[in-house]
Amino acid sequence: MRRAGRVEKIRFSVIMYKEIYNPDFVKNLFNNMSKTYERMNYITSFGFSERWRRICVKGVQINHGDHVADLMTGMGECWKTILPRIGQKGILTALDFSSEMLLQAEKRKLKHGNYKIDILCEDVFNNTIATNSIDCVISGFGIKTFSEDRLASLAKEINRILKPGGRFSMIDVSVPDGKILRLLYMFYLQYIIPILGKLFLGNPENYKMLGVYTKEFKNAQHCHDIFCQHGLESKFNKQFFGCASGIIGKKKDRVQYLSHKTFASLPTC
Ligand SMILES: C[S@@+](CC[C@H](N)C(=O)[O-])C[C@H]1O[C@@H](n2cnc3c(N)ncnc32)[C@H](O)[C@@H]1O
Repeated sequence: MRRAGRVEKIRFSVIMYKEIYNPDFVKNLFNNMSKTYERMNYITSFGFSERWRRICVKGVQINHGDHVADLMTGMGECWKTILPRIGQKGILTALDFSSEMLLQAEKRKLKHGNYKIDILCEDVFNNTIATNSIDCVISGFGIKTFSEDRLASLAKEINRILKPGGRFSMIDVSVPDGKILRLLYMFYLQYIIPILGKLFLGNPENYKMLGVYTKEFKNAQHCHDIFCQHGLESKFNKQFFGCASGIIGKKKDRVQYLSHKTFASLPTC
């Protein structure tokens, strides 16, 4: 009897695991959260999400006139740090497959009328960005909804779209290393955020998913490993005791690419 219960539990976990990485599930989730995502994200992270986006963008070299791809752009939350760096001669290609998130991004684009911003409503695994066309890829909080297989496909896609020597930087919410912080942070993500979601008129079931994805994702170490296996140079970094983590790197060639102190202090593959 107990064995049957355990088998059932494992079967449920496998179904759940497949479901959370199903692209339609992810798309619906973000379509449904689009009205409350930005506010919730800011409040529930105590402003840390903004800080981590800035760290993600500023950690990599972006030059005036660069063509930057902001993958899994959402509502364009990373743009305000990217746009002053590429200037009016640069191009920002912002890609996401959630039409509802992109509706908000279209509104944001109107506020940045002086810049060249192309918004693509596409799946990152089936995108129309030209091969070898991008100077820098950015992604804020866009990688935790991918399984390992998908991360491998993402590494291939980034290798394809980047120019030789092109750079990338990504960051996502992670499970901290320290036991006490881990317990508190995961409790907050799994139980408090859904309640806040309800208070701010979101659906608590949707906001529960942040904890589910973060628990599965753990941190960006496996992304770092996968990106290295696919021929990209990558460095893994942690923010605020591991509450967020990311990778910064480049498509191989000899060009000097990373900003300053950040790169020198990180372990490499
Ligand atoms: C957590 S939001 C991040 C939004 C934004 N970059 C930020 O900094 O807050 C993740 C975004 O990734 C998008 N996304 C997930 N899987 C995707 C895929 N396969 N192709 C394109 N976009 C995807 C979702 O629609 C969602 O808008």
